[in-house]
Amino acid sequence: MPTTIDTRAAFRGRNIVSMRDLSVEDIMTILDYAAELKSKPQTQLLAGKLMASCFFEPSTRTRLSFESAMHRLGGQVIGFSEAASTSASKGETLSDGMRVIGEYADAIVLRHPLEGAAREAAEATNTPVINGGDGANQHPTQTLLDLFTIREHHGRLENLSIAFVGDLKYGRTVHSLVQASAHFGVRMFFVGPKSLTLPQELIDDLKMRSILFSFHNTLDEVVGKADVLYMTRLQRERLSEDIDERLLQHQFTLTADHLAAAQEALCVMHPLPRVWEIAPEIDKTPHALYFKQAANGVPVRQAILSLVLGIV
Ligand code: NCD
Repeated sequence: MPTTIDTRAAFRGRNIVSMRDLSVEDIMTILDYAAELKSKPQTQLLAGKLMASCFFEPSTRTRLSFESAMHRLGGQVIGFSEAASTSASKGETLSDGMRVIGEYADAIVLRHPLEGAAREAAEATNTPVINGGDGANQHPTQTLLDLFTIREHHGRLENLSIAFVGDLKYGRTVHSLVQASAHFGVRMFFVGPKSLTLPQELIDDLKMRSILFSFHNTLDEVVGKADVLYMTRLQRERLSEDIDERLLQHQFTLTADHLAAAQEALCVMHPLPRVWEIAPEIDKTPHALYFKQAANGVPVRQAILSLVLGIV
């Protein structure tokens, strides 16, 4: 079903807080607009618009690709990249801060260490809030660029199998992508240590939707069956468990040897930053998609910004 101007116009003023808020039609509208902006770059689409980039947690790709997206469309950016330089360090609540920043900008991109922060921000202001990651909860714009990249590579989102590898408990990119993939009937493999498995709430959700999924202890069990290997790093900053990272590294680093069993079209993805999850020797293989994936952050975030700003 091709997406129309009406479905695009309906995005004006919306918040992008969680994948749960986006229907399949919403997702396709964003991906199609992103494809359009990628193939025919616009330079003045967002002229006169201002984005506030509010990052209370470290970020490289999310912040800079949002800022690049805005600048490349002729828009402008204000913001901060650490909480220490804001009044949050004086004890200001997130709601008060967002209420005020909402008066200064046309859209807010927020990254925050607390789960639920983006929802709280969206309730504090009428300016659209885009969640750039809230604690271990959600990272919807990463998922949209992941889906965009998967569709670009495989030509479809349906009838695929995705193996999620690594920290499935605290990895917000995993949580958002699992929810979104369920819409497309994706077959899911979950690979990682038992102590860092997928949250029960997500497992229940998959069961309710009759999605086929299974849990595995080694990469070898899934590499030959997957269309996508979605690698993730250990979310050290959120861990309360006592984890022996060297053991994990030994068990879960993807190497060229694993890929000997892979299907030709298998793509290896990673939201990045990579620590030890993917051996550098894989970068040169046709399976490696993670740098293209990161580059797609710009057109996908351009589409998201334009849609919530009502410029379609
Ligand atoms: C991810 C994040 O911040 O959740 N990074 C990103 O936005 N590309 C993944 C991570 O930090 O591990």
